[in-house]
Amino acid sequence: MHNFRQLTDDLYNVGANDRRITMFENAHPVSRGMSYNSYLLLDEKTVLLDGVDMAVNEQFWQNLTAVLNDRQLDYLVINHLEPDHCHPIPELLRRYPGLTIVGNKKTFTMLDQFYDVDLEGHKLEVNEGDVLQTGKHSLTFFLAPMVHWPEVMVTYDSTSKILFCADVFGTFGATDGKMYADEYKFEDEYLPEVRRYYATIIGKYGRNVNNLFSKIADLDIQMYCTLHGPNWRKDFHLILDKYKLWSSYIPEERGVVICYGSVYGNTALAAEILANKLADGGVENVRVYDVTSTHPSYILSDCFRFDRLVFASSTFNADLFPYMETLLLELKAHNLTNRTVALIENGSWALLSGTRMREILDRMKGMTVLEQTLSLKSSLKRPDVEALEELAKALLAE
Ligand code: FEO
Repeated sequence: MHNFRQLTDDLYNVGANDRRITMFENAHPVSRGMSYNSYLLLDEKTVLLDGVDMAVNEQFWQNLTAVLNDRQLDYLVINHLEPDHCHPIPELLRRYPGLTIVGNKKTFTMLDQFYDVDLEGHKLEVNEGDVLQTGKHSLTFFLAPMVHWPEVMVTYDSTSKILFCADVFGTFGATDGKMYADEYKFEDEYLPEVRRYYATIIGKYGRNVNNLFSKIADLDIQMYCTLHGPNWRKDFHLILDKYKLWSSYIPEERGVVICYGSVYGNTALAAEILANKLADGGVENVRVYDVTSTHPSYILSDCFRFDRLVFASSTFNADLFPYMETLLLELKAHNLTNRTVALIENGSWALLSGTRMREILDRMKGMTVLEQTLSLKSSLKRPDVEALEELAKALLAE
């Protein structure tokens, strides 16, 4: 049975939700599933903008064939060739012999890499600013390399004033019968997961995101249609303001994220004491994370949000505690910059974790690491508590 959604007179979302998935890209936990949007435009020509993941393939076909209602599919526009949007491509070519696939040069290179399909007579290669007339609709293509993959482009329908924006404004989580972001409570229901999606999926490519927004600045956009999650039809400033900060690596607000890796609880206690002192000192936003039990994507997301970070780690096997190393490498991999960082190390045989953490942070751009690492030897003593008091003051002064 079909279950599509209608957005305008002639535009439908024929995608679907997957609530069985637990790890998106086998890397990021998604406790509330994922949505995969696929847009079908019924003009004089029929146009599908992006497909879906294999997990929702069956529902996609139910939806697509119901909306097409025996019409042929004329065009498939591939804004993003990541497999979570491309599973139906070989079958689309089999079922619709007149299908033309629209993509840019890189799209077709990657299409060849992923799928064994013969594109002879099925290819329309477009470049920056090219226009495709489909009847009353006019589609213009803008290249958006590295937002999130090299081949990404966005498509502007100047008739409906809709931007099909690929992963931009994408979010984790299946949709709950809602089609638009304004149907969610922005701060509570929407923002945490759209931030985590941005940080983990696009966070590394801030400069490319900025380039795209400069490129499309003059377009009259009345709706943004993303590939994951609800679409935007009003109050664009809410999400655009966040994107501007995230893509420039500017913290959203003041706050301290304390991440600890602790074997027997002593480093954890230091983190908790520091949190209390910061809160006593008036810091409203303090977040404490055990790096062993919290997936790095959640911590990364808060590191994009707040301006000061503390890493407190045990030394483990004469090296850095592995979960802490994973977290720091994640932050580095996502190009996080412009943060003030304090370090706490603990070591019973030898103090090595501070040096290792500093080595990783030194390879990151724009990180201000406080010169003094607070060093602990096994359990906390009174002078250690005093040192934590001093560290809290240093963080408050930043
Ligand atoms: Fe949903 Fe970058 O793909």
